[in-house]
Amino acid sequence: MDRKNEPILILDFGGQYSQLIARRVRECHVYCELKPYTMTAEEIQAGGYLGIIFTGGPNSTYEENAPKCDPKLFTLGIPVLGICYGAQLMAQMLGGKVVKGDTKEFGKTEMECNTSSLIFHAAKSKSVCWMSHTDRIEKIPYGFKVTALSENCPVVAMEDIKRRFFAVQFHPEVQHTEEGMLFLRNYLYNACGCTAVWQMDSFVDDTVQELKKKIGKKKVLCALSGGVDSSVAAVLVHKAVGQQLTCIFVDHGLLRKDEGDQVESVFRKQFDMNLIRVNAQERFLTRLAGVTEPEQKRKIIGEEFIRVFEEESAKLGKIDYLCQGTIYPDVVESGTGEAAVIKSHHNVGGLPKDIGFAGIIEPLRDLFKDEVRQAGLVLGLPDYLVYRQPFPGPGLAIRIMGEITPERVAVLQQADAIMREEFINNGLDKCVDQYFAVLTDVKSVGVMGDGRTYENTIALRAVTTDDFMTADWARVPYDVLEKISNRIVNEVGHINRVVYDITSKPPATVEWE
Ligand code: XMP
Repeated sequence: MDRKNEPILILDFGGQYSQLIARRVRECHVYCELKPYTMTAEEIQAGGYLGIIFTGGPNSTYEENAPKCDPKLFTLGIPVLGICYGAQLMAQMLGGKVVKGDTKEFGKTEMECNTSSLIFHAAKSKSVCWMSHTDRIEKIPYGFKVTALSENCPVVAMEDIKRRFFAVQFHPEVQHTEEGMLFLRNYLYNACGCTAVWQMDSFVDDTVQELKKKIGKKKVLCALSGGVDSSVAAVLVHKAVGQQLTCIFVDHGLLRKDEGDQVESVFRKQFDMNLIRVNAQERFLTRLAGVTEPEQKRKIIGEEFIRVFEEESAKLGKIDYLCQGTIYPDVVESGTGEAAVIKSHHNVGGLPKDIGFAGIIEPLRDLFKDEVRQAGLVLGLPDYLVYRQPFPGPGLAIRIMGEITPERVAVLQQADAIMREEFINNGLDKCVDQYFAVLTDVKSVGVMGDGRTYENTIALRAVTTDDFMTADWARVPYDVLEKISNRIVNEVGHINRVVYDITSKPPATVEWE
């Protein structure tokens, strides 16, 4: 059975939770695609979708240039679920009326629903939902009936069961909506007739078969970073074509302590892959000598990475395909705003598309990060690699303020290893999303034994976050911080002070450079 049959379409009206809706649908084992709201009814029909979900969005439906879907979409006979802006849009486009509300409704709200409604089947009649709106549906369209209300909102949900159109003013996809997943499952299984065929083990089996067919006898090259995306992509391709795959792992010398050896051991020993490890520490450090400006560091590392990769792949003769660990959030470009360049992330550790291969293989381009992890587990990758915290392409270079020297890299690697060890010992690695040490360029006076010291400062950074766009500093217990501080000052040379970063993002960023 094609794992992608029974697809659901999510039409994106620019809501901040659009990707979250898609992830939730996938959690219900239903394949879905997130597409711009401009998709035509013809395109939708051609896609064979079993259901359509409208996301929220920042606009008001009655504004002149408010985004609207193709009205013919409502004549296709496909069940539609409108969420927040999507609910209001459905109301307005089908003949109802949306107005600006007198009060904003934001946050947790108690709603009361009619449990004979299809969406609220088996739900509690009163439960908490998450609201975030000012506009409200004043008049529901012909054929609809109200199925839920709250104290301040007379139309929290409505449905036209004949046409299978449903609308909810709240966000079923966010955790604070107590029964949100039940509502989504009701829509997917009972309204659209989906049957939960999207499973990770079948994804892996099907993808391996597809890759076999596509690659045939040809050769594939993969740039392995040790991160979860490129690792899972490489293992999938390896499972399909074995020794026709060659992986190049560029060790730029700015990895965490022992990381290069770990990556080598997993892929060479456990998977018996054709792996080329390029020990390019000296080359990178030479290019970085004397460079202190963060963007300059990123640029140098990005360029050098591509150069090393090109040189190594040239030695291999003709290679047909390049395998990349592109994942679904990289593919869907929702939102059209011009964001300011804070840091030039995406050029570092990545390869340009026109690097001279006949084709690109991206086996993970349909998957969200949590699905990539599940696929990794199905493929037998070790837990520590599958759940590895994110690590930036330029590595420790952007965690060393000021000049990068082999000695300073070694100091940071030791301090960082101590922090990671203590986080794991205290179970904090399970609840903190990213944590690492930074070598600052601040020197300060200290006293050790009877003598004065004038040494470096290590900063500890630990954050919790859902998407790394915003982040909060983690409330790490004082005794854990104390232990890390003591160990770093005692075990690592040239450090006499340890500080903890208590800034959220924004205004700070996760990394220091
Ligand atoms: P910032 O510092 O922008 O970091 O708040 C957000 C997330 O992105 C990671 N990061 C990078 N990842 N190349 C990467 O692959 C980069 O140049 C880069 N810079 C930051 C950072 O570790 C955090 O997870």
